Amino acid sequence: MSIPARIKKIVETTDTLIVYWKNGEVSKYPYLYLRDNCPSPSTIHSSGQKLIETPAINPAICPKNSELNNDTEVQINWETEEHTSLFSAQWLFDHRLSKAAIAERREQRIAREPVNLWDDALNDNIPVGDYTEVSVSDEALCAWLENVSRYGFAVLRNVPAELGMVCKVVELFGYVRETNYGKLFDVKTRVNPSNLAFTSLGLSAHTDNPYRNPTPTLQLLHCLQSSAVGGNSVVVDGFKIMADLKLHSPQMFHLLSTTPVTFRFENEHEWIERTDTIIGIDVFGEVNAMRFNNRSVQAFEVDEDNMPAFYTAYQHLAKMIDDERYFVQFKMEATDLFIVDNERVMHGRSAYDGSAGERFLQGTYADRDGLLSKLRVLKRKAITQLV
Ligand code: OGA
Ligand code: ZN
Repeated sequence: MSIPARIKKIVETTDTLIVYWKNGEVSKYPYLYLRDNCPSPSTIHSSGQKLIETPAINPAICPKNSELNNDTEVQINWETEEHTSLFSAQWLFDHRLSKAAIAERREQRIAREPVNLWDDALNDNIPVGDYTEVSVSDEALCAWLENVSRYGFAVLRNVPAELGMVCKVVELFGYVRETNYGKLFDVKTRVNPSNLAFTSLGLSAHTDNPYRNPTPTLQLLHCLQSSAVGGNSVVVDGFKIMADLKLHSPQMFHLLSTTPVTFRFENEHEWIERTDTIIGIDVFGEVNAMRFNNRSVQAFEVDEDNMPAFYTAYQHLAKMIDDERYFVQFKMEATDLFIVDNERVMHGRSAYDGSAGERFLQGTYADRDGLLSKLRVLKRKAITQLV
Protein backbone atom coordinates (compact mmCIF):
# COMPACT_ATOMS: atom_id res chain seq x y z
CA MET A 1 0.00 0.00 0.00
CA SER A 2 1.59 3.26 -1.07
CA ILE A 3 -0.36 5.71 1.16
CA PRO A 4 -0.11 4.70 4.84
CA ALA A 5 -3.49 4.22 6.52
CA ARG A 6 -4.39 6.96 9.03
CA ILE A 7 -7.25 6.97 11.51
CA LYS A 8 -9.32 10.10 12.33
CA LYS A 9 -11.26 8.68 15.29
CA ILE A 10 -12.60 5.52 16.84
CA VAL A 11 -16.01 4.95 18.41
CA GLU A 12 -17.09 2.05 20.63
CA THR A 13 -20.55 0.54 20.26
CA THR A 14 -21.89 -2.43 22.24
CA ASP A 15 -20.27 -5.15 20.17
CA THR A 16 -18.25 -3.33 17.52
CA LEU A 17 -15.43 -0.85 17.16
CA ILE A 18 -16.02 1.75 14.46
CA VAL A 19 -12.98 3.26 12.78
CA TYR A 20 -13.28 6.54 10.88
CA TRP A 21 -10.43 6.83 8.41
CA LYS A 22 -8.82 10.06 7.33
CA ASN A 23 -9.66 9.18 3.74
CA GLY A 24 -13.38 9.29 4.64
CA GLU A 25 -14.00 5.54 4.83
CA VAL A 26 -15.69 3.98 7.83
CA SER A 27 -14.96 0.40 8.99
CA LYS A 28 -16.60 -1.80 11.59
CA TYR A 29 -14.82 -4.54 13.56
CA PRO A 30 -16.74 -6.85 15.92
CA TYR A 31 -14.84 -7.09 19.24
CA LEU A 32 -14.83 -10.87 19.05
CA TYR A 33 -13.02 -10.65 15.71
CA LEU A 34 -10.49 -8.16 17.11
CA ARG A 35 -9.74 -10.25 20.20
CA ASP A 36 -9.45 -13.40 18.08
CA ASN A 37 -6.93 -11.70 15.79
CA CYS A 38 -4.97 -9.73 18.37
CA PRO A 39 -1.35 -9.65 17.13
CA SER A 40 0.18 -9.98 20.63
CA PRO A 41 2.70 -12.82 21.16
CA SER A 42 0.34 -14.47 23.65
CA THR A 43 -2.29 -14.76 20.89
CA ILE A 44 -0.19 -15.40 17.79
CA HIS A 45 2.94 -17.52 17.93
CA SER A 46 6.05 -16.34 16.10
CA SER A 47 5.34 -19.06 13.51
CA GLY A 48 2.20 -17.14 12.57
CA GLN A 49 -0.05 -19.82 14.08
CA LYS A 50 -2.80 -18.89 16.49
CA LEU A 51 -2.19 -19.77 20.14
CA ILE A 52 -5.60 -19.02 21.61
CA GLU A 53 -8.66 -21.21 21.22
CA THR A 54 -11.35 -19.17 19.52
CA PRO A 55 -14.25 -20.90 21.30
CA ALA A 56 -12.68 -19.90 24.65
CA ILE A 57 -13.22 -16.19 23.94
CA ASN A 58 -16.24 -14.70 25.66
CA PRO A 59 -18.62 -13.94 22.77
CA ALA A 60 -19.77 -10.82 24.61
CA ILE A 61 -16.21 -9.52 24.96
CA CYS A 62 -15.97 -5.73 25.00
CA PRO A 63 -13.36 -3.08 25.84
CA LYS A 64 -12.81 -1.60 29.28
CA ASN A 65 -11.48 1.29 27.24
CA SER A 66 -9.96 1.94 23.84
CA GLU A 67 -7.56 4.61 22.66
CA LEU A 68 -6.20 5.97 19.44
CA ASN A 69 -2.43 6.43 19.72
CA ASN A 70 -1.48 9.20 17.29
CA ASP A 71 -3.41 8.25 14.19
CA THR A 72 -1.61 4.99 13.58
CA GLU A 73 -2.44 2.59 16.41
CA VAL A 74 -5.52 1.42 18.30
CA GLN A 75 -5.12 0.13 21.84
CA ILE A 76 -7.86 -1.89 23.49
CA ASN A 77 -7.86 -2.92 27.16
CA TRP A 78 -10.42 -5.69 27.42
CA GLU A 79 -13.14 -5.74 30.05
CA THR A 80 -13.59 -9.47 30.54
CA GLU A 81 -9.90 -10.44 30.68
CA GLU A 82 -6.58 -8.91 31.69
CA HIS A 83 -5.30 -8.32 28.22
CA THR A 84 -4.33 -5.40 26.03
CA SER A 85 -4.42 -5.54 22.24
CA LEU A 86 -2.56 -3.18 19.96
CA PHE A 87 -3.62 -2.93 16.31
CA SER A 88 -1.68 -0.91 13.79
CA ALA A 89 -3.78 1.28 11.52
CA GLN A 90 -2.26 -0.59 8.60
CA TRP A 91 -3.42 -3.97 9.92
CA LEU A 92 -6.92 -2.62 10.45
CA PHE A 93 -6.95 -1.10 6.98
CA ASP A 94 -5.74 -4.34 5.40
CA HIS A 95 -8.52 -6.20 7.24
CA ARG A 96 -11.50 -3.93 6.55
CA LEU A 97 -14.60 -6.08 6.66
CA SER A 98 -16.98 -4.44 4.20
CA LYS A 99 -18.17 -6.75 1.41
CA ALA A 100 -16.40 -4.45 -1.07
CA ALA A 101 -13.06 -4.66 0.79
CA ILE A 102 -13.28 -8.45 1.01
CA ALA A 103 -14.13 -8.67 -2.71
CA GLU A 104 -11.22 -6.34 -3.52
CA ARG A 105 -8.77 -8.55 -1.61
CA ARG A 106 -10.08 -11.59 -3.47
CA GLU A 107 -9.51 -9.79 -6.78
CA GLN A 108 -5.97 -8.99 -5.68
CA ARG A 109 -5.29 -12.62 -4.82
CA ILE A 110 -6.62 -13.70 -8.22
CA ALA A 111 -4.52 -11.05 -9.98
CA ARG A 112 -1.38 -12.34 -8.26
CA GLU A 113 -1.85 -15.74 -9.93
CA PRO A 114 -3.30 -15.00 -13.35
CA VAL A 115 -4.88 -17.71 -15.47
CA ASN A 116 -4.87 -17.44 -19.27
CA LEU A 117 -7.44 -19.53 -21.13
CA TRP A 118 -6.18 -20.86 -24.45
CA ASP A 119 -7.09 -22.69 -27.62
CA ASP A 120 -5.15 -23.74 -30.73
CA ALA A 121 -3.63 -20.24 -31.06
CA LEU A 122 -1.23 -21.30 -28.29
CA ASN A 123 0.45 -23.61 -30.84
CA ASP A 124 2.41 -20.54 -31.99
CA ASN A 125 3.61 -19.82 -28.50
CA ILE A 126 3.86 -23.06 -26.53
CA PRO A 127 5.05 -22.32 -22.97
CA VAL A 128 8.46 -23.92 -22.74
CA GLY A 129 11.48 -24.07 -20.46
CA ASP A 130 14.90 -25.70 -20.68
CA TYR A 131 15.98 -28.22 -18.06
CA THR A 132 19.60 -27.13 -18.26
CA GLU A 133 18.42 -23.67 -17.15
CA VAL A 134 15.59 -24.42 -14.72
CA SER A 135 17.73 -26.90 -12.80
CA VAL A 136 20.35 -24.23 -12.01
CA SER A 137 18.57 -20.89 -12.10
CA ASP A 138 15.80 -19.73 -9.75
CA GLU A 139 14.78 -17.17 -12.33
CA ALA A 140 14.35 -19.76 -15.08
CA LEU A 141 12.55 -22.13 -12.71
CA CYS A 142 10.23 -19.33 -11.60
CA ALA A 143 9.40 -18.49 -15.23
CA TRP A 144 8.65 -22.13 -16.04
CA LEU A 145 6.46 -22.65 -12.96
CA GLU A 146 4.69 -19.40 -13.74
CA ASN A 147 3.75 -20.93 -17.11
CA VAL A 148 2.30 -23.98 -15.38
CA SER A 149 0.28 -21.78 -13.05
CA ARG A 150 -0.95 -19.55 -15.88
CA TYR A 151 -1.61 -22.05 -18.69
CA GLY A 152 -1.95 -25.30 -16.72
CA PHE A 153 0.61 -26.72 -19.13
CA ALA A 154 4.27 -26.33 -20.04
CA VAL A 155 6.92 -28.19 -22.00
CA LEU A 156 10.44 -28.71 -20.69
CA ARG A 157 13.24 -29.48 -23.14
CA ASN A 158 16.63 -31.14 -22.70
CA VAL A 159 15.65 -33.38 -19.81
CA PRO A 160 18.29 -36.13 -20.17
CA ALA A 161 16.73 -39.30 -21.61
CA GLU A 162 17.57 -41.30 -18.50
CA LEU A 163 15.35 -43.46 -16.33
CA GLY A 164 13.79 -41.65 -13.37
CA MET A 165 14.51 -38.11 -14.60
CA VAL A 166 10.80 -37.32 -14.49
CA CYS A 167 10.99 -37.57 -10.68
CA LYS A 168 14.09 -35.34 -10.61
CA VAL A 169 12.04 -32.68 -12.39
CA VAL A 170 9.33 -32.93 -9.72
CA GLU A 171 12.00 -32.49 -7.03
CA LEU A 172 12.70 -29.03 -8.48
CA PHE A 173 9.34 -27.80 -7.18
CA GLY A 174 7.58 -30.37 -5.01
CA TYR A 175 6.95 -34.00 -4.21
CA VAL A 176 6.19 -37.09 -6.21
CA ARG A 177 2.73 -38.46 -5.59
CA GLU A 178 3.09 -42.23 -5.40
CA THR A 179 0.13 -44.31 -6.59
CA ASN A 180 -0.64 -47.93 -7.40
CA TYR A 181 1.27 -47.28 -10.66
CA GLY A 182 4.38 -46.67 -8.56
CA LYS A 183 6.48 -43.55 -7.93
CA LEU A 184 6.77 -43.37 -11.68
CA PHE A 185 5.45 -45.55 -14.46
CA ASP A 186 6.61 -46.62 -17.90
CA VAL A 187 4.32 -45.64 -20.74
CA LYS A 188 5.06 -48.17 -23.45
CA THR A 189 3.32 -51.06 -25.11
CA ARG A 190 3.01 -53.92 -22.62
CA VAL A 191 1.67 -57.46 -22.65
CA ASN A 192 -1.61 -57.61 -20.66
CA PRO A 193 -1.75 -53.87 -19.99
CA SER A 194 -3.69 -52.65 -16.92
CA ASN A 195 -4.48 -49.42 -18.73
CA LEU A 196 -4.96 -48.46 -22.38
CA ALA A 197 -2.13 -45.95 -21.92
CA PHE A 198 0.17 -49.00 -21.95
CA THR A 199 -0.83 -50.00 -25.50
CA SER A 200 -0.20 -48.36 -28.86
CA LEU A 201 -3.83 -47.21 -29.13
CA GLY A 202 -4.71 -43.56 -29.48
CA LEU A 203 -6.03 -41.91 -26.32
CA SER A 204 -8.65 -39.17 -26.64
CA ALA A 205 -7.86 -36.19 -24.42
CA HIS A 206 -8.54 -36.94 -20.78
CA THR A 207 -7.58 -36.10 -17.23
CA ASP A 208 -5.76 -38.89 -15.44
CA ASN A 209 -7.05 -40.83 -12.46
CA PRO A 210 -10.41 -39.13 -11.84
CA TYR A 211 -11.21 -42.36 -9.98
CA ARG A 212 -8.77 -41.30 -7.28
CA ASN A 213 -9.78 -39.00 -4.44
CA PRO A 214 -7.92 -36.76 -4.14
CA THR A 215 -6.97 -36.85 -7.80
CA PRO A 216 -3.30 -36.02 -8.46
CA THR A 217 -3.33 -32.40 -9.54
CA LEU A 218 -0.20 -32.54 -11.70
CA GLN A 219 1.00 -35.07 -14.25
CA LEU A 220 4.37 -35.18 -15.97
CA LEU A 221 5.36 -37.26 -18.99
CA HIS A 222 8.98 -37.52 -20.09
CA CYS A 223 10.00 -38.94 -23.45
CA LEU A 224 13.02 -41.27 -23.55
CA GLN A 225 12.51 -42.83 -26.97
CA SER A 226 10.48 -41.60 -29.90
CA SER A 227 11.32 -43.47 -33.08
CA ALA A 228 7.85 -45.05 -33.56
CA VAL A 229 5.57 -43.61 -36.22
CA GLY A 230 2.67 -41.59 -34.74
CA GLY A 231 2.01 -41.08 -31.06
CA ASN A 232 1.62 -37.30 -31.36
CA SER A 233 0.62 -35.50 -28.18
CA VAL A 234 -2.35 -33.23 -27.73
CA VAL A 235 -3.32 -31.02 -24.81
CA VAL A 236 -6.62 -29.17 -24.39
CA ASP A 237 -7.54 -26.42 -21.91
CA GLY A 238 -10.54 -27.66 -19.91
CA PHE A 239 -11.07 -24.20 -18.34
CA LYS A 240 -11.42 -22.64 -21.81
CA ILE A 241 -13.84 -25.35 -22.88
CA MET A 242 -15.94 -24.99 -19.74
CA ALA A 243 -16.07 -21.19 -20.21
CA ASP A 244 -17.18 -21.61 -23.83
CA LEU A 245 -19.72 -24.28 -22.89
CA LYS A 246 -21.22 -22.03 -20.21
CA LEU A 247 -21.72 -19.30 -22.82
CA HIS A 248 -23.08 -21.69 -25.43
CA SER A 249 -25.42 -23.66 -23.17
CA PRO A 250 -25.86 -22.75 -19.49
CA GLN A 251 -28.22 -25.72 -19.32
CA MET A 252 -25.57 -28.26 -20.37
CA PHE A 253 -23.02 -26.58 -18.12
CA HIS A 254 -25.48 -26.91 -15.22
CA LEU A 255 -26.08 -30.61 -15.90
CA LEU A 256 -22.36 -31.38 -16.10
CA SER A 257 -21.57 -29.44 -12.93
CA THR A 258 -24.36 -30.95 -10.82
CA THR A 259 -24.80 -34.55 -12.00
CA PRO A 260 -22.69 -37.10 -10.12
CA VAL A 261 -20.79 -39.61 -12.24
CA THR A 262 -18.58 -42.44 -11.05
CA PHE A 263 -15.04 -43.16 -12.26
CA ARG A 264 -13.53 -46.52 -11.42
CA PHE A 265 -10.28 -48.44 -11.82
CA GLU A 266 -10.61 -52.06 -10.82
CA ASN A 267 -8.52 -55.17 -11.20
CA GLU A 268 -7.42 -58.09 -9.05
CA HIS A 269 -5.33 -55.83 -6.78
CA GLU A 270 -7.12 -52.49 -6.89
CA TRP A 271 -10.60 -51.07 -6.59
CA ILE A 272 -10.40 -47.30 -6.72
CA GLU A 273 -13.45 -45.17 -7.34
CA ARG A 274 -14.77 -41.68 -6.99
CA THR A 275 -18.18 -40.19 -7.56
CA ASP A 276 -18.22 -36.51 -8.42
CA THR A 277 -19.26 -34.04 -11.09
CA ILE A 278 -17.44 -33.72 -14.42
CA ILE A 279 -17.22 -29.96 -13.97
CA GLY A 280 -16.02 -28.98 -10.50
CA ILE A 281 -17.19 -25.72 -8.92
CA ASP A 282 -15.47 -24.01 -5.98
CA VAL A 283 -16.99 -22.19 -2.98
CA PHE A 284 -17.05 -18.94 -4.99
CA GLY A 285 -19.13 -20.57 -7.72
CA GLU A 286 -16.17 -20.61 -10.13
CA VAL A 287 -15.02 -23.59 -12.18
CA ASN A 288 -12.10 -25.25 -10.43
CA ALA A 289 -11.85 -28.73 -11.94
CA MET A 290 -12.41 -30.80 -15.02
CA ARG A 291 -12.75 -34.56 -14.52
CA PHE A 292 -13.00 -36.21 -17.90
CA ASN A 293 -11.95 -39.70 -18.80
CA ASN A 294 -14.15 -41.67 -21.16
CA ARG A 295 -12.21 -44.88 -20.42
CA SER A 296 -12.83 -45.02 -16.69
CA VAL A 297 -16.25 -43.38 -16.42
CA GLN A 298 -18.96 -45.87 -15.42
CA ALA A 299 -22.51 -46.30 -16.71
CA PHE A 300 -24.30 -43.08 -15.80
CA GLU A 301 -26.72 -43.24 -12.87
CA VAL A 302 -29.16 -40.67 -14.22
CA ASP A 303 -32.87 -41.34 -14.07
CA GLU A 304 -34.55 -42.53 -17.25
CA ASP A 305 -36.36 -39.24 -17.90
CA ASN A 306 -33.20 -37.16 -17.65
CA MET A 307 -30.71 -39.57 -19.24
CA PRO A 308 -31.21 -38.28 -22.83
CA ALA A 309 -30.48 -34.66 -21.78
CA PHE A 310 -27.41 -35.78 -19.84
CA TYR A 311 -26.11 -37.69 -22.88
CA THR A 312 -26.65 -34.62 -25.06
CA ALA A 313 -24.54 -32.56 -22.66
CA TYR A 314 -21.85 -35.25 -22.25
CA GLN A 315 -21.51 -35.80 -25.99
CA HIS A 316 -21.44 -32.08 -26.62
CA LEU A 317 -18.61 -31.63 -24.10
CA ALA A 318 -16.71 -34.64 -25.50
CA LYS A 319 -16.98 -33.22 -29.02
CA MET A 320 -15.64 -29.86 -27.86
CA ILE A 321 -12.70 -31.67 -26.22
CA ASP A 322 -12.14 -33.48 -29.52
CA ASP A 323 -12.34 -30.30 -31.62
CA GLU A 324 -9.01 -29.33 -33.19
CA ARG A 325 -9.76 -25.66 -32.59
CA TYR A 326 -8.85 -26.35 -28.97
CA PHE A 327 -5.82 -28.55 -29.67
CA VAL A 328 -2.21 -27.76 -28.89
CA GLN A 329 -0.32 -30.52 -30.70
CA PHE A 330 3.28 -31.59 -30.78
CA LYS A 331 5.40 -34.67 -31.18
CA MET A 332 7.50 -35.48 -28.14
CA GLU A 333 11.09 -36.23 -28.97
CA ALA A 334 13.53 -37.94 -26.63
CA THR A 335 14.48 -35.46 -23.82
CA ASP A 336 11.12 -33.60 -24.06
CA LEU A 337 8.84 -33.50 -21.05
CA PHE A 338 5.49 -31.90 -20.46
CA ILE A 339 3.53 -31.14 -17.32
CA VAL A 340 -0.21 -30.56 -17.05
CA ASP A 341 -2.49 -29.36 -14.31
CA ASN A 342 -4.46 -32.59 -14.22
CA GLU A 343 -7.67 -30.93 -13.01
CA ARG A 344 -7.58 -28.41 -15.82
CA VAL A 345 -5.71 -29.48 -18.94
CA MET A 346 -6.51 -32.74 -20.69
CA HIS A 347 -3.87 -34.70 -22.53
CA GLY A 348 -4.04 -37.40 -25.18
CA ARG A 349 -2.08 -38.99 -27.99
CA SER A 350 -2.66 -40.40 -31.45
CA ALA A 351 -2.15 -44.11 -32.05
CA TYR A 352 1.37 -45.21 -32.94
CA ASP A 353 2.98 -48.00 -34.88
CA GLY A 354 5.74 -49.54 -32.82
CA SER A 355 6.74 -52.15 -35.43
CA ALA A 356 9.69 -50.19 -36.78
CA GLY A 357 10.59 -48.00 -33.81
CA GLU A 358 10.21 -47.44 -30.10
CA ARG A 359 8.04 -45.10 -28.08
CA PHE A 360 8.94 -44.91 -24.41
CA LEU A 361 7.71 -42.34 -21.92
CA GLN A 362 7.98 -42.23 -18.17
CA GLY A 363 5.24 -40.56 -16.21
CA THR A 364 4.64 -39.47 -12.66
CA TYR A 365 2.19 -37.46 -10.59
CA ALA A 366 2.69 -34.60 -8.20
CA ASP A 367 0.54 -31.92 -6.61
CA ARG A 368 -0.24 -28.34 -7.46
CA ASP A 369 -0.03 -27.01 -3.90
CA GLY A 370 3.71 -27.74 -3.74
CA LEU A 371 4.32 -26.17 -7.13
CA LEU A 372 2.40 -23.00 -6.27
CA SER A 373 4.18 -22.76 -2.94
CA LYS A 374 7.57 -22.95 -4.68
CA LEU A 375 6.46 -20.37 -7.23
CA ARG A 376 5.25 -17.92 -4.54
CA VAL A 377 8.47 -18.32 -2.56
CA LEU A 378 10.61 -17.73 -5.67
CA LYS A 379 8.57 -14.65 -6.58
CA ARG A 380 8.82 -13.30 -3.02
CA LYS A 381 12.58 -13.86 -3.07
CA ALA A 382 12.89 -12.05 -6.41
CA ILE A 383 10.94 -9.06 -5.06
CA THR A 384 12.94 -8.82 -1.81
CA GLN A 385 16.17 -8.98 -3.79
CA LEU A 386 15.00 -6.03 -5.90
CA VAL A 387 14.15 -3.89 -2.87
C1 OGA B 1 -0.88 -41.51 -19.75
C2 OGA B 1 -1.12 -40.97 -21.09
C3 OGA B 1 -0.14 -40.30 -23.16
C4 OGA B 1 0.97 -40.67 -24.08
O1 OGA B 1 0.09 -42.26 -19.59
O2 OGA B 1 -1.63 -41.13 -18.83
O3 OGA B 1 -2.16 -40.38 -21.30
O4 OGA B 1 1.40 -39.80 -24.83
N1 OGA B 1 -0.15 -41.09 -22.00
O5 OGA B 1 1.37 -41.83 -24.09
ZN1 ZN C 1 -3.18 -39.96 -19.40
